[in-house]
Amino acid sequence: MGIGATAGAAAVGGIALSANASDATSSSASDSLAFDPDAWTKLTKTITDTEGTEHTVVYHFWKAITYVAEPVDATYQSLIVSAPVEIDGKAVDASDAPILLANSVGGYLPASVATATEIGGGGSATGGAAPGGAPSASSSASAQAAAPGANGTTNATGGATSSNQLLALAAGYVVVEPGARGRTLKNSGGEYYGTAPAAIVDLKAAVRYLRANKGRVPGDVERIVSAGTSAGGALSALLGASGDSPLYDPYLKALGAADASDAIFATGAWCPITDLEHADGAYEWNWGANDLSTGKPVDQTVSKALRAQFAEYQAGLKLRGLGGFGRLNARNLDAYLVEQYLEPSATAYLAALTDSARAAYLKANTFITWSAGRASFTWTDFLTHVGARKKDAPAFDAFDLSAGENNEFGTGRALARHFTAYGAEHDSTGLTTRRVASGIPAALDLMNPMHHLSGKANPGRSKHWWIRLGTKDSDTALTVSANLAARLDNLGDDVNHLYYWDEGHGANTDPADFITWIARVTGHKSRHP
Ligand code: DHB
Repeated sequence: MGIGATAGAAAVGGIALSANASDATSSSASDSLAFDPDAWTKLTKTITDTEGTEHTVVYHFWKAITYVAEPVDATYQSLIVSAPVEIDGKAVDASDAPILLANSVGGYLPASVATATEIGGGGSATGGAAPGGAPSASSSASAQAAAPGANGTTNATGGATSSNQLLALAAGYVVVEPGARGRTLKNSGGEYYGTAPAAIVDLKAAVRYLRANKGRVPGDVERIVSAGTSAGGALSALLGASGDSPLYDPYLKALGAADASDAIFATGAWCPITDLEHADGAYEWNWGANDLSTGKPVDQTVSKALRAQFAEYQAGLKLRGLGGFGRLNARNLDAYLVEQYLEPSATAYLAALTDSARAAYLKANTFITWSAGRASFTWTDFLTHVGARKKDAPAFDAFDLSAGENNEFGTGRALARHFTAYGAEHDSTGLTTRRVASGIPAALDLMNPMHHLSGKANPGRSKHWWIRLGTKDSDTALTVSANLAARLDNLGDDVNHLYYWDEGHGANTDPADFITWIARVTGHKSRHP
């Protein structure tokens, strides 16, 4: 049970947590979710901003608080809170500041803040650190496990989320870092209890906890801005898209989540590994012509079949491209990505270089034409420039169930399952039905932001979106976030989506801009340290 889990804490401020808080028969669960505003320790952190200036931030730190009344595993279902009280010697009042909800999930692995003693002190465990389960021994699972949270203090990026957190604190915002269950967790009965939809249910429970504690937790719970990278970016996007969706109610109820809204105000997502059931086709459409790092091509029969599936999917999305591009389809998506994202990204990169550095870059990269201050190139040349693809085909639903995502869709005693018809049909593990399991379609809906944005789009979604992706990130297709952005744009939401030129997986090269963006969209009078 977490800090503040006392009846006394529930009385602080006299705010009822829910309509049932005064009902003796149901008060204990609600009371246990009362945030204790006084249970902080005072810490000091020196934070270097993106211009290299150091700031001394004194902040109140709440160590791990369990955010559900009936946790399955409090090691993961807990959050930490950091609220600045003094920045560079000046008192700050963060009681109405935006709340950055920064998850540190990587690889769909478990993320814990249980032992964190300061801001940024959580993260996804690398393989095996999670009790009761090691990641499946597979190429993709180990590739994922190698990246996230290697030092236990950052996420997959080795910095994207943590720099957001520190800069947010130095800007006077409240920072909340939730842990969440992940795919490798296994109980003593051999059952996987952190596979889909556990992680998103946990993040929603964390939001509900904050909103139920309005007036007690520091910060403005109506201005929660989520952030995450890769699998954490996917979960962040999903959190933003699925706000208050009733689909999750039974799961939240089972955990004794607080009775409150789980809608968030704005969403930040770096290289989201999402839209998983369409990601194999998207990957082949994007990287199909690129060889593996071994120099070998992938199975072209598989690649072509998946690519054909993607064409159908893309057409069915009926998206209009940004910038008046018109209807997107598999034949014009290359031109769209080049025009809308890749050339502007290269242009921004080259424009920021000194004349001599730019000349050197252009000399080494003759596929780029630099004219009148703008970069131009072809999609084919861009693909050659990126080089080896990171994943084999299929990239996500592996025939031998070895991908991390197969594990993410595991359930009960099943470590891993197929989640696409194509993967199931081509299964190499002895799946006699050759079909996806009956629970898979519902699990996919619970994990895919696009599901919540399609048809009658979820009105509870966040309306402000910050999406970022490196142009050399072949962990998934570049179309994944472009389609997400186009869908949101077509719905009328405020979308800020850029690609970072030549950056790989997990990059975050404009964190200060994200912090400024938060101030703008939330209407917060930003304190620029
Ligand atoms: C992550 C990376 C992947 O390639 C993937 O398939 C899933 C998650 C990650 O870094 O979180």
